[in-house]
Amino acid sequence: MRTIDDLDVRGRRVLVRADLNVPLDGDRITDDGRIRASLPTIEALRERGARVIVCAHLGRPKGEVKTEFSLAPVARRLGELLGTDVAFASDVVGASAAETTAGLADGQVALLENLRFEPGETSKDDAERGAFADRLAALAELYVGDGFGAVHRRHASVYDVPRRLPHAAGKLIAAEVDVLRRLTEDVRRPYAVVLGGSKVSDKLGVIDNLLGKADRILIGGGMVFTFLKAQGHEVGKSLLEEDQLDTVTEYLARAEKAGVEFVLPVDIVAATAFAADAEHDVVPADAIPADRLGLDIGPASGRLFAERLAGTATIFWNGPMGVFEMEPYAHGTRAVAQALIDSGAFTVVGGGDSAAAVRTLGFDESAFSHISTGGGASLEYLEGKTLPGLSALED
Ligand code: 3PG
Repeated sequence: MRTIDDLDVRGRRVLVRADLNVPLDGDRITDDGRIRASLPTIEALRERGARVIVCAHLGRPKGEVKTEFSLAPVARRLGELLGTDVAFASDVVGASAAETTAGLADGQVALLENLRFEPGETSKDDAERGAFADRLAALAELYVGDGFGAVHRRHASVYDVPRRLPHAAGKLIAAEVDVLRRLTEDVRRPYAVVLGGSKVSDKLGVIDNLLGKADRILIGGGMVFTFLKAQGHEVGKSLLEEDQLDTVTEYLARAEKAGVEFVLPVDIVAATAFAADAEHDVVPADAIPADRLGLDIGPASGRLFAERLAGTATIFWNGPMGVFEMEPYAHGTRAVAQALIDSGAFTVVGGGDSAAAVRTLGFDESAFSHISTGGGASLEYLEGKTLPGLSALED
């Protein structure tokens, strides 16, 4: 993969595909981690005299202009972090984009409006996507792929534009790929994986693949109840994916055969409702009352997970252990974050939610070896899938 050092960028318009998909509360950015992660590439290009045109998506507006998905707040924050004005184009490939990008001087930065306001960006129809890619590519002379969180999407800005312009990988993509290689090709053992989050169906591919690679798989979050049910336990009103029970049962059997240790929680924080002020108690994982729903792993599970993570050499963690946004159910996620820090292992936190959890709960990001900006992207990488945005940069 070429890097930006291989491109002669001075005085040239460089389109940078970044992942600036940040959580918003109204127009307030609640976690700017992805914007900060995009800075090294943009700063390096500016220093070398490029005219930087950043493009990105926000949310899923599905090809329509929806003001709540505007990148305007992101342009402001990007400008603050860069310490310079960021010109904002009020469309993606229209008159404003043409005027804004044509007006850039060497070292200046512009941000285009949300790519997903254009139906061509995400279209499954190659011709429609290609036509949009042509218009986007026409704004620039060079392309830099740096939106790691979106490399698993076969979208125009990720996949088709680099096939139309001389291209290279940005610093973020290079760093992310470097780390993920250490989880797939050159793994120091014991290798433990902690998976959480609400849906087991999102994680099936990665569990399937890890059964042949990880030494230990620890499960928490909403997805754990499908595992507990598969083991024959009642889970009350907890989240349950009935249609995944057979698959999960098969995984548990395969893990046993392959000598992969599956670690499930031994206790659960069970509440009367999905609310911070609901009545809640710690109950054994095999005795969740019929009228309760599990919203976090319990303290004994936190200790068990910490013990199973101590002494490992590599840990990948994706997905919170509970509803960490509500303080009564944040303990499990906090315990796992602390266990990663205490383990002394090479630790990778993957996924928007877990990365946000780590920051929201007040942990120092530098206490982890790497916090990935990609949720779905890092999981698909670990599944061994070909990622369109990476293969396009390799060609
Ligand atoms: C993410 O948030 O994981 C990336 O920005 C990709 O977003 P998407 O899942 O909407 O494609």
